[in-house]
Parts: sequence; C-alpha cells; structure tokens
Amino acid sequence: MFLVFPDTSTVADYVSSTLINTVKSKPDAVLGAATGGTMEPIYARFIEKIRQLQLDVSRLTTFNLDEYVGLGVEHSQSYAAYMREHLFGHLGFNKARLHLPDGLAESLEEHCRDYSARMQQHGGIDLQLLGVGSNGHIGFNEPGTPFDSRCHVVELSERTRIDNSRFFSEDEMVPGSAITMGMKDITDAREILLVATGENKAPILAKYFESDVTETIPFTVLKRHPRARIILDEAAASLLPASVFQRAAAA
Ligand code: GLP
Repeated sequence: MFLVFPDTSTVADYVSSTLINTVKSKPDAVLGAATGGTMEPIYARFIEKIRQLQLDVSRLTTFNLDEYVGLGVEHSQSYAAYMREHLFGHLGFNKARLHLPDGLAESLEEHCRDYSARMQQHGGIDLQLLGVGSNGHIGFNEPGTPFDSRCHVVELSERTRIDNSRFFSEDEMVPGSAITMGMKDITDAREILLVATGENKAPILAKYFESDVTETIPFTVLKRHPRARIILDEAAASLLPASVFQRAAAA
C-alpha cells in the first residue's frame, strides 16, 4: 500500500527513476506535473539523470495540476514560474507541449472546460505525479470536492492558504482562489504516484490509512485506483503501523 524510503533523497531517486522509465518506454508520454516543495528534489534528480543518460524530452507532453487565479506566468509565485525554475527551464522541453492552467484567463469557466478537453484530446495522462496537502487535497481539490469533478475554479481553504504562505513574501497575499484539474481528471490517469515527505504530512497519511474512501479526504480516492502508489519518507510514514508499509532501499 505504501512504499517507504529512508529520506527525501532516496524518495527523489525512486520517483525520478520511475519518470525516466516512462520517458524511455514512451518518449511521447503525457505526464501530469505537480508543484510544491515535495517535488523540488524529484525534479532536480530527474534533470540530472536525463542529462546523464542524454535522453530526449522534446516529445513529452505535460499537464500541470493547478494554478493560482490572478497570477500571470511572470509572477514569481505562479506555478508557471515554479515549473520554469524547477523543470521546464532546463533540458529540451518543447514549449508547445507544456500545458498549465492560465490564472489570468478571461473566462475562467471556459478555460477550465477547455483544459479538461485538451487533456482528453491528448489521450489522457499516462503518469500523474501528485503531492498532498496537509488537509488531504490533491491538486487544489479541497475536502468535499466531488470525485466526478473536472477542471474548475476553487476557493482555497484557510488551511491551504496558511500552508502555502511560506512560499510568499510577507507583504504578499496567497491568492484566495485557484484553477485545478478535477478529481476525475486526476483519477483518469493510467498510473499515479503520490509523494509525501516530512513529518507535517504524517497525520494526514494516518487518516488516509484509517478512513474509507471519502470526499472529505480527497486523496482517499486513490484507494480505488488500480495503479496508484504512495511514496513516503520515514517522517511522513511515522504515524502508520509498520505492518502496512513496505520499506524500500534507495533506487
Ligand atoms: C499545493 C499544491 C498541491 C501540492 C500541495 C503540497 O497546495 N496545489 O498540488 O501537492 O501544495 O505541497 P508541498 O509539497 O509544498 O507540501
């Protein structure tokens, strides 16, 4: 059920290797990309390995999970800027194949419909990377989001805005709303890797383990997915009974 590694660096090794295997076996794969502190060491290892192996990423298509409403691509805290800094600004990605929701779209509803449709036109996502919020959100699907939802605009919860304020400077406000892929967009992915590291994720992982599938803890939907793996470091797994996880060595 859970794959547990000693630390964030061994987690990054494992997850980046999985991504590399996808690039090798399907150079034109469609990847679902995530943001957040958890993904930073993973993208860094991925870039290193792609360079070492001299693999071509120009045929990959990516769809990002979410974006803050009101932040344009030039805003330093937009997820577009995050992706540029941590992944897309490196290697030889083809910009035309990189999709992110547009936080400045004129009609957000129309943009959301188009975003879900674009994912489907590309044949859906082969491998979706996910982090998890401390309240169990995936993408920005906050507790209570219907499992059959498609891309939509969401009011961010107080908890999420506080969690994410660490990335913003003191005089900046975390936006109150965001565009996110819907729960159904995410679970339509053929394979899912959810990654959680650090002790602040331990309580929500314990809840995941104890709960049935419920919309009040969005990521419990992964219990129903045929190819979803949950990758943790020891700190995030620290409140789980040891019998339910498989300890893994470095990749
Ligand atoms: C944000 C993102 C999520 C991400 C979560 C966890 O709210 N919208 O997609 O999974 O934060 O982020 P972190 O990895 O920084 O804990």
